[in-house]
Amino acid sequence: MSSALAEIAAILLRFAHVAAAIMWIGNSLLFTWMELRLIARRKDDPDEDLMGYLDMLHGGGVFHLQKRVLKPGAIPQPLHWFKWQSYTTWLTGFTLLCVLFYRDGSTLADATKTDLSGPATAGLSLAGIALGWIVYDLIWRSPLGKKLWLGALATLVFIAGAAWFYGGIFNGRALYLQIGAMMATWMTANVFVHIMGNQHRFMDALASGQPHDVTLGKRAKSRSLHNHHITFPVLFLMLSAHFPRLHASDQRVPILVIVIVALVAVKFLMNSRLYFRGWLATIFAVVIGATTAIAGLIHVPPPVPDGKTTAAMEGEQLFQSLGCAACHMQGSSEIAPRLHGLFGTTQALADGSDIEVDDAYLRESILEPQAKVAAGFAPAMPSFQGIVDEPKMKALLAYLRSIGAARK
Ligand code: HEC
Repeated sequence: MSSALAEIAAILLRFAHVAAAIMWIGNSLLFTWMELRLIARRKDDPDEDLMGYLDMLHGGGVFHLQKRVLKPGAIPQPLHWFKWQSYTTWLTGFTLLCVLFYRDGSTLADATKTDLSGPATAGLSLAGIALGWIVYDLIWRSPLGKKLWLGALATLVFIAGAAWFYGGIFNGRALYLQIGAMMATWMTANVFVHIMGNQHRFMDALASGQPHDVTLGKRAKSRSLHNHHITFPVLFLMLSAHFPRLHASDQRVPILVIVIVALVAVKFLMNSRLYFRGWLATIFAVVIGATTAIAGLIHVPPPVPDGKTTAAMEGEQLFQSLGCAACHMQGSSEIAPRLHGLFGTTQALADGSDIEVDDAYLRESILEPQAKVAAGFAPAMPSFQGIVDEPKMKALLAYLRSIGAARK
């Protein structure tokens, strides 16, 4: 496939993934909201199959919703099931992982920490996704899962352990995505195994004339509440490529754990507003507390701790203030080539030739980026002609030289 086609395919895939996720999560949040707001049937209500009801104003009318026990032989038609939004989200997400990362597993790794091969790194990521589901599911099937707080604590310890493990191999961006993909897989597997499984079970029983076993839905409902509470952390982690401050910090693992705990707490507090008057104040307290803790932890490691000249330090500041760092991230070469370790090496170009990375090449890359395009990248870098004058160029070159020598 030509690279333009591949790029368009990746765009479509990403869009489908986000659209499916919005549809799924929107529904899922609405269903949980309806469960929480459902007005339970009064004891003296003659309608014994009524479980609860709810009125919602929308579109010029009132939806009068009832939650009911189903009767064998009187199953409403059509009856809507909800699963494809979830499956589509997972399938498109997994395909994205394959296309963007597994094709070249080295994009996941932090080359300063590991020299695992690309396929081995991709394999580690896949294994974590599969094993993660098994461990999570076992925790909640075990006695630990009987007590909500114990189960939640065990799950958190597992997440923190996984983050610590992957943090030793993956770059920050890949680490956050890995944990997000693991938790997102729990969500879809919960739908596939528990929620759909139990719905099939009681619908099959109904079809064979047995009464509606409401207890079968219990486990499904507790899993759907898990999904509900991990929605915010998963969304955050899926968006985290845009938060390099967090994932490029050398404290990325504790930051990740704080984000997850705080966002689960926020969702929990939002749901508690029916019975807890201090819910909003507590949400503010959680957000302020978590933000303060993270601000204290944010520390982007300087590329070269010592031996740097003033020009190089000036260049580093320019590298940040001119926006170079937004594309050329230290931990990732997803958007643009990693410049750490580049100076002094040989760079493969898109036209198939090679070039020695020296001052002249760097200078040309900055002023006339389209002249020589690095292999494997889109010619997406804007020209800095007229923005980077000679003194700035000197400083930038000094900086790029200083981070070049450090890795070799
Ligand atoms: C909008 C994103 C973006 C910004 C901002 C950006 N770059 Fe780039 N840069 C790229 C891309 C994409 C490439 C690879 C394509 C190419 O070689 O033109 C690249 C290539 C380079 C290269 C050649 C790397 C190689 O491996 O051959 C250098 C050097 C470079 N950029 C330096 C800079 C500096 C310095 C700045 C800030 C003044 C900067 N870039 C800003 C996206 C960006």
